[in-house]
Amino acid sequence: MKPSELPDYAAHNRALWSVYGRDQEEWGRAQWATDDICWGIFRVPENDVNVLPGLYETDAIELGCGTAYFSSWLARRGARVVGVDVNPDQLERARGFQREFELEFPLIEANAEDVELPDGSFDLAVSEYGASTWCDPYKWVPEAKRLLRPGGLLVFLRNSTLLVLCSDAKGVVQERLERPQPGLYRIDWVDDEGEGTEFQLSHGHWVDLLHGNGFAIERLVELYAPEGAAANPLWDFVSPEWAHSWPAEEIWVARKL
Ligand SMILES: C[S@@+](CC[C@H](N)C(=O)[O-])C[C@H]1O[C@@H](n2cnc3c(N)ncnc32)[C@H](O)[C@@H]1O
Repeated sequence: MKPSELPDYAAHNRALWSVYGRDQEEWGRAQWATDDICWGIFRVPENDVNVLPGLYETDAIELGCGTAYFSSWLARRGARVVGVDVNPDQLERARGFQREFELEFPLIEANAEDVELPDGSFDLAVSEYGASTWCDPYKWVPEAKRLLRPGGLLVFLRNSTLLVLCSDAKGVVQERLERPQPGLYRIDWVDDEGEGTEFQLSHGHWVDLLHGNGFAIERLVELYAPEGAAANPLWDFVSPEWAHSWPAEEIWVARKL
C-alpha cells in the first residue's frame, strides 16, 4: 500500500500516528500486560458491559489495531485474530509487544476502509478508537460488512456524540454545547504534531448507516467513567468528573443479517 494511493485524510492520519504512537507506547505496553479486557479512556471492564460474544475459536479482525492490545485480549481467549492498521510504525510497535509478551497473530498493513482479505472471513470485527474514529464511516462500515460472515458481530467504541458536540475548537470538552449537530461528519484539525482527521456522526446517522448496510443494531452502551477513575494523562481532553455525569464514550454492537 502506497501512501499516495490513500485518500487525503488517511494519508494524514497515517503520518500523524507515527508521532502519536510514540507517546502511547507505554499505554500500549500496560494494556498488553493485563489480561482483563477493558474499554476506552477510563478502562471500563468488559465484565461490566458484556458486549463481546464468546471468543474461543472465532475468527476476529481489529480494524485500526494500533499497538494491538485489544487483539491480544481476543487472542488470549482463543480467537484467531488479525490486526489491521494503516501505519507501519504502529504495526512495528505491535510486533515488538508480540515478542515481549510471547503472543503472535497476523498483523496487516492496510487502510481499514479497503482490506485485501476475502469476503465473509470473520465472525467478529472490532474497533476501539481505530477505524471507528479515523476512517470514513461510509467506507469502513461497508468494508466491515463485507469482511463479516452472515450473523457476524461488529463491535466498536467511539467518543459519544455528546462529547463531540461539547468539544471546543482545541478539542477540550466543556460543560456546554460548542458546535452544532447538523453537518457533523468529517472533522479536520492541525495541532503541534501534525494534521489529523476524525469522523463523527450523530446517532440518527449511525442508525441509518448500520441499517443501510444490513446490520441489526443490538446494543448501544454509553460509557461513564467508573467511580474513582483517575484522569488519563494521554487523553486529558475529557475529565473523569465530566465523564461521571455524561457518557464520554459509547460502544455499538451490530449484527450482520
Ligand atoms: C487510538 S489508535 C489505536 C487504537 C488501539 N486500540 C490502540 O490504542 O492501540 C488509532 C489507530 O488507528 C490507525 N488508523 C488511522 N487511520 C487508519 C486507517 N485508515 N486504516 C487503518 N488504521 C488506521 C492509526 O494508525 C492508529 O494506530
